[in-house]
Amino acid sequence: MISTKLIQGLNIARSGVYFLESLPVLAFNRFAHPHLPPPAPEQVQLLWKHILRVHEREAGRIEAGAYPWTALDWEKPWQHLRSYAEVLSDGVKVALRMRLNKTKDLGGEAAAHSAETPDYYARNFHFQTDGYFSEDSARRYDHQVEILFNGTAGVMRRSILPPLVSLLPPGNTRILELGCGAGSATRYMAETFPKAKITALDMSAPYLKVAQEKLRAYPRVDFVQGDATDTDFKDGLFDAVVSVYLMHELPLEERVKVLHEAWRLLKPAGVLVVADSLQIDDDPDLNWALERFPKIYHEPFYKNYIVTKLEDLMEREIGTRPDSDFTLLTKVCWVQKGKS
Ligand SMILES: C[S@@+](CC[C@H](N)C(=O)[O-])C[C@H]1O[C@@H](n2cnc3c(N)ncnc32)[C@H](O)[C@@H]1O
Repeated sequence: MISTKLIQGLNIARSGVYFLESLPVLAFNRFAHPHLPPPAPEQVQLLWKHILRVHEREAGRIEAGAYPWTALDWEKPWQHLRSYAEVLSDGVKVALRMRLNKTKDLGGEAAAHSAETPDYYARNFHFQTDGYFSEDSARRYDHQVEILFNGTAGVMRRSILPPLVSLLPPGNTRILELGCGAGSATRYMAETFPKAKITALDMSAPYLKVAQEKLRAYPRVDFVQGDATDTDFKDGLFDAVVSVYLMHELPLEERVKVLHEAWRLLKPAGVLVVADSLQIDDDPDLNWALERFPKIYHEPFYKNYIVTKLEDLMEREIGTRPDSDFTLLTKVCWVQKGKS
């Protein structure tokens, strides 16, 4: 057993490393958006207070047995440095794309992959190179997200674990993850539920391939390419359906379809867990960060997402109001089918 104080300290140090790594990225962003003023020092100070609190809270959760410390991310230094070099060199291309506001800059392999996908999806989300359409993009993705969130993306994604742990029956459950991306949250669930069979679905074949490589050590996880709004699974197959950071990238109409599809796939008493960006006034101290995000990154549906409360949308579409909890810039909503 590893000491929880040590975990907290290592996570804070890890956030410090990602903060340092973010400095050149911030300079790229400044080049791309010269008229956007930087956040005020008080806002940044408050953000860091929140970051420290989040690491303290996670250490407490691990101490209380909410999930195992093995679910955390411990990067290997050499791999991490190599990955950072790739993120930085790609950062120049991202900054140019940002500056020129090129949102459909897909060529070669990426263009071929994107041809069969819906218009809302076939774009450079976040201005990232190749959008969701290449393995290179998938390999950079988690590192880019950790830099964006000063090393708190993992702890924010792990906010799905406490509701799952408290509501999933023990034993051989079936979990479906919609929009698994490069598989980070998938691994957290695989570590936390060693007997569960997990199906990870994403629209992107290259991201699924990279997720599959990352989760080679977990044979109970399988990977399916598909559209979360309309899957091929039969009704009531899963004990839990989970999505992490999928909703804010969907137009409202598709968000609604995903909720209905998730509900259809759940068994009676199954659990729906949706983790995504915080929304306006969830934590008024952080409204500035939510307003700033789509001014920098290409996030065409985010402005609608942050004012369309997930709790209200879920209540309206599936008939039950979810519980919710906040972890820094992430909100997790959960609801059990058949329980009000
Ligand atoms: C912001 S990323 C989040 C990925 C991952 N869950 C994470 O925590 O990093 C959104 C993911 O949703 C996927 N996605 C978007 N629309 C989708 C859809 N209609 N069906 C399935 N996957 C979709 C994208 O390919 C991408 O991998």
